[in-house]
Formats: sequence, structure tokens, C-alpha cells
Amino acid sequence: MTDTAIPRVPAFMPYFGHGLAFGRDADRLMQDCQRQYGDVFELNLAGKHCTFFVNPRDYPAFIRQSKHLRSEDISLDIAAPVFGFDKQHLQDKVDVEHVTHMNQRFMMGDELGPLTERMQDKLEEILLDPRHRDGFSGSLFDYALELIFMAGSDALFGEGVASPQLLEDFKVVDKYFPLLVGGVPKWLLPGVRKALAGLASPLGFPREGQCRLMDERFSYFAGIDYRASEELPKTDSSLLWAAQANTAVVAFFTLFFILRDPVVKKIIEEEVRSVLATSDKLSPRGTPYLTADVLNRMEKLDSCISETLRLVSAPLPMRQATQDLDIELVSGGTAHLKQGQFAAIYPRYLHMHPDIFEQPAEFRWDRFLGKQKPNSFAYQGEPLKYALIPFGVGLSMCPGRHFARNEFKVITALLLNWCDIHLQETRMPALDKSRIGLGSFTPKSAIPFRLKRAA
Ligand code: HEM
Repeated sequence: MTDTAIPRVPAFMPYFGHGLAFGRDADRLMQDCQRQYGDVFELNLAGKHCTFFVNPRDYPAFIRQSKHLRSEDISLDIAAPVFGFDKQHLQDKVDVEHVTHMNQRFMMGDELGPLTERMQDKLEEILLDPRHRDGFSGSLFDYALELIFMAGSDALFGEGVASPQLLEDFKVVDKYFPLLVGGVPKWLLPGVRKALAGLASPLGFPREGQCRLMDERFSYFAGIDYRASEELPKTDSSLLWAAQANTAVVAFFTLFFILRDPVVKKIIEEEVRSVLATSDKLSPRGTPYLTADVLNRMEKLDSCISETLRLVSAPLPMRQATQDLDIELVSGGTAHLKQGQFAAIYPRYLHMHPDIFEQPAEFRWDRFLGKQKPNSFAYQGEPLKYALIPFGVGLSMCPGRHFARNEFKVITALLLNWCDIHLQETRMPALDKSRIGLGSFTPKSAIPFRLKRAA
């Protein structure tokens, strides 16, 4: 292996470096840099010098170093000032690695069944209200956000957490989230301090009907010397944001892509109806639950969800090296990272690459059908171990990924099965690219729709 000197891309903007170009259109910046500097290069993101690995064939070597490429400090540096918790106290008193492990362990496998059923129960309650019986029109994004927020928050955090006021507070925080992360002072952003306080107010104590993860978190925090009553509402408001922000966006786009094409809509509707009929578990209302088996059989819908995630997810798994380390590149070279150095992969380079995904800007409902396993797609003549990375990578990969996928299936299945729903605009909205690194791109314009419960 030869050493690869990592080219530093010159930046002409003092302080911001490449930060502004990155926030404007990171896809284009990455493509331009790759053409000029090759697969590995260093950018200056507002003072943070970060080495980017853009070749998808190099991602496995990057991911293999997960133990020494950590995100905890980076995440806390972002979340603590935004949500107002004490980073130092948390690092002094909390075993962050243990909490990360807990987040993963209690959001998968058998834990998902009760959580998903509760989310479905809550959603059905909403669909049974008089507004749905009488029919209404509105913005599809606002509607998807409302459903995901009201049903998902109660399922995760317990009975009575979600309320119209909490949703309004969430909207204010989410609207300003890129600016808050960028360090804009809260007092400059109208209503944001009140909204952040509102978001934390129903959190931080155990509730009836909360999910297993919350049970485990509260019992862990009760057993350590942590200022739980003061700090937990704020740390949990960051969890609430993480759980709802991207889920609502992807739920919206999944519905949009399916509903705008009558052929796709029919295919998915038929799958939903035939698979739901096989459910062996009924809710107290007598409706079929989307059990693990039912969810697994919704393969066509699953392909639509993966394709949506490919198009609109905007992850940026950035890590900091905890020791000097080497990453072997497929080009035959080795990239050296020094302790403390920042490094990242850029999954959208993969998601939008025309050699990997033909016509990458197009939504093709069956692109991932039977192709959800590693090595189903290829690049430079070699199969790719990772071809879809919407939820990040390694030890701090999104713990909510399995639940989020279940939520997309529940919401799509119920709406198609219960309601007549029509879009009044089918053109793809522009994406807000400033949300790069926050998980997913929101739509820049509204998609009006009409809905009425069918029965
Ligand atoms: C479409 C939905 C979602 C998307 C696209 C998404 C995306 C992401 C991404 C990209 C990360 C960073 C991973 C990394 O650095 O490698 C992340 C982290 C996280 N997500 Fe999600 N997420 C979604 C839904 C959820 C849900 C439903 C929950 C909770 C129930 C959740 C909770 C979290 C938490 C707690 C983290 C921090 C993990 C850590 O640092 O250890 N997310 N998510």
C-alpha cells in the first residue's frame, strides 16, 4: 500500500471555508471535488476541517474503523446548545456508550411489535375522528407530520405526551433547526426559546404506555448521580426531535411518490389489502394489526420506502478519530487520519450516482424489489456492500431505523386502506438542501390534497 496524501481543497471564504457551498448544494460540491481531487479530500466546513471519503467502495473500510471513529462528542456539541442540556455534566455522570447501546437494543426485534401496534392504535383513533369522516383538504406535508407526530410521540414517550401545542412547538424548533445547529443565537429566532421550553415540558418523567426503551432509560438514570429532573426533559426533547423530524419528511415523500402515480398506487393498494388480510392479530377495534409477519410481507411497499429514502435522505456520518489510524483505499493507497481529525463519508454521492442507480433523480417503485440485501448493486464493476445508507453507519447508526420503516408502512397501509385520498399537485417539490446532515431534505413547497374516510 502506498500512502495517499489527502488533498486540501482550497477555500476562498474566510471563516466559512466551504461551509456556504456545502449548505447550498453539497451534492454538486462533492461531485466537483471528486472530479478534481479524487476519492478522498479535505474540506473546511466553517473552521471544521473534515476528510471526505466519497467512493462507495471505500465506505466498508471507513465503517470497519467505527470503534476509533466516534460521533458522540460531535453529536453532543450540536445537541447540547440547541436543547439546552449540560454537556459536561452528562459526560461526567452518564455512560454515553451504554446509553447508545440501550437505544439500539430496545428499538429492534421483539421490542418493535408493541411499539408499532401502539402507533397503529393511535393512528386509527385519529382516522376515526369526525374530520376524517366529513373529509377535508390541506397540505400533505402538514398532514403527514401531524399523523407521525401525534401517533409516534405517544407510542414512544407514553400516553398524553402529544398535543396540538407540542406539535406547534416542534414546528418552530424544526423550522429553525439548521440555523440553531449553525450557531445562530436563540434570541434572534422568533419564538424559539418558548418552543424549546414547550418541547421539553411534557418529558423527563415516566408515563403510562411508554415504550420499553423509555422504561430502561428511566431506570438507568434513576440509578446514577445525574441531575435527572432538571436535565432529562431537555435531553429527551432532543430524542423527540430525532424521532419525529425525519420520520415525518420520509412519510410525506413515501405517500407523495405512491399517490402521484395511479399505477404505483394500485400496486401498493393491492399489496396492502392482500397482506393485511393474512394478519393473525386483531386490534380491540377488530382491525388487523401490522404484525412483524405482515410488515415483512409488504415487499413492494418496502421497495418504495427504500427508493424514497434514497432520494430524500441527507445523512452525513461525520466522525472524529480517537487515535491515529489508517484507512485502506480501493485505489490501492492508504489514507492516514490523525487523532482528533474529523472524517466523513457522503452517502448521497452513492445514492445519486448514475452508474449505480440508472436515472438517479427518478422515483422507480421497484428499484429495490428483491434487492434489499448487500451486494445487490455494483460500482466500478464490483458489488457494493452498502448501497443505501439513509440512517448512517456503525455504532451510532440511527437506532430508530426499524421503527421508522414500520411507521411508514403503518401510515401508508392505513391511509390507502381506509381513505380516499387525492393529490392536487403531482410535480416533485424542490428540496431544501440546507438540511444536509440533519437526516432528510424537506419539501420547499406544499402539496395540496383532499381526503375522506371511505367507510
Ligand atoms: C426517516 C427517519 C429517520 C432518519 C432518516 C434518521 C436518520 C438518522 C441519522 C442519519 C442519524 C445519524 C447516524 C450516524 O451518525 O451514523 C440518526 C441518529 C439518530 N436517530 Fe434517527 N432517523 C430517523 C428516524 C428516527 C427515529 C424514529 C428515532 C427514534 C425513535 C431516531 C432516533 C435517533 C437517535 C437517538 C440518533 C442518535 C444516535 C447516536 O448518536 O447514537 N431516528 N438518525
